[in-house]
Amino acid sequence: MRTSPKNIELYACPQCRSAFTYRADADAGDALRGSLVCETGHAYRVDGIPRFVVDEGYTSNFGKQWAEFRKTQVDSATGNTESRDRFFHGTGWPTNMEGQTILEAGCGSGRFTEIMLGTGARVISFDYSVAADVTHDSFAKNGATVSQASIYEMPFQPESFDRVFCYGVIQHTPDVKKSFFNLVSMVKPGGEIAVDVYDAWKWIFHSRYRVRWFTKHMNQEKLLAWCRKIVPAYMKVMPPMHPYNQIFFPVKDYRGARAGFTKEQLVEYSILDTFDMLAPMYDQPKSRGTMMRWCKEAGLTNIHIQVGGNGLEIRARKPGAAAAANCDSPPPALKAIA
Ligand SMILES: C[S@@+](CC[C@H](N)C(=O)[O-])C[C@H]1O[C@@H](n2cnc3c(N)ncnc32)[C@H](O)[C@@H]1O
Ligand SMILES: [Zn+2]
Repeated sequence: MRTSPKNIELYACPQCRSAFTYRADADAGDALRGSLVCETGHAYRVDGIPRFVVDEGYTSNFGKQWAEFRKTQVDSATGNTESRDRFFHGTGWPTNMEGQTILEAGCGSGRFTEIMLGTGARVISFDYSVAADVTHDSFAKNGATVSQASIYEMPFQPESFDRVFCYGVIQHTPDVKKSFFNLVSMVKPGGEIAVDVYDAWKWIFHSRYRVRWFTKHMNQEKLLAWCRKIVPAYMKVMPPMHPYNQIFFPVKDYRGARAGFTKEQLVEYSILDTFDMLAPMYDQPKSRGTMMRWCKEAGLTNIHIQVGGNGLEIRARKPGAAAAANCDSPPPALKAIA
């Protein structure tokens, strides 16, 4: 019988930062169902996982997306190393991080959760949407500790993580700068942060921005059904032109662009990413200059910004005590994924 959510000592009340006690519902039986109550009485629901938000807010599209495409980008399911390559190339972090605790913000389906768990690190992941349940279902058995929470009200003690990781997220939040600074606040002195963001220069002329004003307000079921029809139809009539086709057509088409995926996997991946670019409420790219300025304003050192993955990959260190091992010697450059 489960008596409490895993690692509750790692959580802190988002309102007063005090510790939690778990109270199971009277009829919970073996199920993890009850509440986390802090020392001053603030209570949060536990229902399979702890939930520090009342609903998905502006992220319901992502909840739907990751429930539908729960394994599309997960290396152990696809049989390739795309997530692994992108993680280590982007972060420059070591392949062995035993003894370290990593906070992952906006875990989605857990493609990078899986990679971090593979390093031996303790991984604490959260997502504002019910994608948190997807990561929990897939990776709790590998050791992941997952909750549903927002970057704007994180249920953790500030400066308590060796590393903070956040890919594919901050451009989809309403206040990108605030999101970045909130994430920095969770890094221990001497610890490191790795985030990525869409690159303003690369994305600003993308055709998605001509249709998103409409598609982001569409019924999400309908939009997803539309993506499932349009993407394969587009692939039937157009030759592969990735990434240039996106200048003219708001459709992702990864044929010929991603090594190691089967034809069927590439169709599914293209549908996923077409929905991913049309559905989010927020899509706010940032420039290299802006990210550099924010890193400096946040007092970070060893700032490294490179082009790759989603756009710009940023990693930096918070000055203080013992530095987390590494970061200065990233593995040799791998092919960036557009
Ligand atoms: C494009 S997905 C990326 C998921 C994953 N990191 C990946 O790279 O596959 C963006 C994720 O950020 C989450 N998200 C957006 N705003 C958030 C917030 N304020 N707090 C936590 N998660 C957030 C969404 O729910 C979604 O799962
Ligand atoms: Zn409290």
